[in-house]
Parts: sequence; structure tokens; C-alpha cells
Amino acid sequence: MKLIIGSDHGGFILKEKIKEHLASKGYDVADEGTYSLDSCDYPVIAEKVCAKVLEDNQNLGILVCGTGIGMSIYANKVKGIRASHCTDTFSARLTRQHNDSNILCLGERITGVGLALDIVDEWLNASFEGGRHQKRVDMINKLDMERND
Ligand code: RB5
Repeated sequence: MKLIIGSDHGGFILKEKIKEHLASKGYDVADEGTYSLDSCDYPVIAEKVCAKVLEDNQNLGILVCGTGIGMSIYANKVKGIRASHCTDTFSARLTRQHNDSNILCLGERITGVGLALDIVDEWLNASFEGGRHQKRVDMINKLDMERND
């Protein structure tokens, strides 16, 4: 499993904190940018992270922007991505267990660092339960297959 992270300028500081936190736990995290506080466009970063996540179905991604919303809107338009914008640990756990979420979206201007790191831990430590949830995720995947863009 590879873990890929990215942010725009609005999420840069939180991205750096998350990287530091994950490094201290032994995770090897690939950083797709941005690399400074200079203004940039969140779709560009989201596109890069989504592409890397889709290289292997074990891969996971984290996207941070000011609200987490722009990143999640973009990521959820990419076939094969199930992005979850979370502001609490319960949703973070359940979206892995039930939705097989492969990208976590966070908002630096919404969620404080302490809670954001807990959300990241909860999301990474949970795993997809399959069973009755598989059928529902398959329905989402079918929608992707039917799209001809
Ligand atoms: C950047 O100002 C801001 O719009 C962006 O980080 C994000 O919140 C978009 O959804």
C-alpha cells in the first residue's frame, strides 16, 4: 500500500503536520505538492494524487485544502475514487469500513490540527468490512463503468 498526500496553499500547513505525524509512525508518504504557501489550484493537486492512488487498489490518498470541499468535489469525479470529506473520527472510521474510501479530504480552515491527526489515524486504522457493503460499493463502481467520459 502506498500513501499519497497533497494540498493546495489553503491546506499546506496541515499537510506538513500530517506528513510529520505519519513519518513519526513509520509511514512512507509520497508528497504530490504543493510545496509552499504560494497560491495554486486545488484541482491540479487533486488530479495528481488521484492518479497515484489509482495505480494500485491498495493505495490511499489524503487531500487537504482550505475547506476540504473543493478537493472532495474534484476527487469524486475521478473514476475509481471514493473520496470522503471528514470533520469527525466516527465518519472517518465508518467511511473506510462501509464505503471503502480511498481518499480522505480535510479542511485546514475547518478542522484543528489535533482533531485532523486523530481523523487521519482513525481512517488509516480502519478497513473495509465487505459483506453487505461490497454490493453497495459495487453499485458506485458500476456507475463509474457506465460513464463514457
Ligand atoms: C483556496 O482559497 C480555497 O478556495 C481552497 O483551499 C479550498 O477551500 C477549496 O475548496
